[in-house]
Amino acid sequence: MDTNRLSKTLTAALNSQMTKEAYASQIYLSYAAWADNQGFGGIANFLFRHAEEERNHMMKILEYILRRGAEVQITAIPAPHDNPVSIKKCFEKVFEHEVDNTKAVYKLVKMSFDEEDWATWNFMQWFVKEQIEEETLAMNLLNKIKIAGGDKVNNNALYSLDRDLKNTPDGAGSAQDVTAEKP
Ligand code: FEO
Repeated sequence: MDTNRLSKTLTAALNSQMTKEAYASQIYLSYAAWADNQGFGGIANFLFRHAEEERNHMMKILEYILRRGAEVQITAIPAPHDNPVSIKKCFEKVFEHEVDNTKAVYKLVKMSFDEEDWATWNFMQWFVKEQIEEETLAMNLLNKIKIAGGDKVNNNALYSLDRDLKNTPDGAGSAQDVTAEKP
């Protein structure tokens, strides 16, 4: 008796998203190591923590595939692209990456909707909400660099930014926590 509750298409798409989250973790790891090398220990710390968060996303999908009786496929993780050339570029790449990941999440939502796989659709809602948080976090980073001077950001401003980010929570906090249920 076949107890697999996921279609072939969704199994492939979920496995691919799982690898994408692992790839995201590698990207954050590489940026963190780069930032640390540049002397920005606070920013590095923030990015290292976020790499861990991406790995948790990967595990969440892995566990879901298993729970639905389907096969997990662990494949090679693509290498992260080149190191950024500045902190500003680093934050821009983080934002671009999160937007790209949101698109992948939306594709999975649509696929599960089209298949009327409501369990997967429901599972993916967690990621839809999480991506709002992740994009907000990336936008906040870009705003911080903008306030610090944008392209003309000087070392003093970067020093303060580095110190601040060391203690910044991993999730987008404060106003972003407000929801319809928790105004
Ligand atoms: Fe797992 Fe940053 O999305």
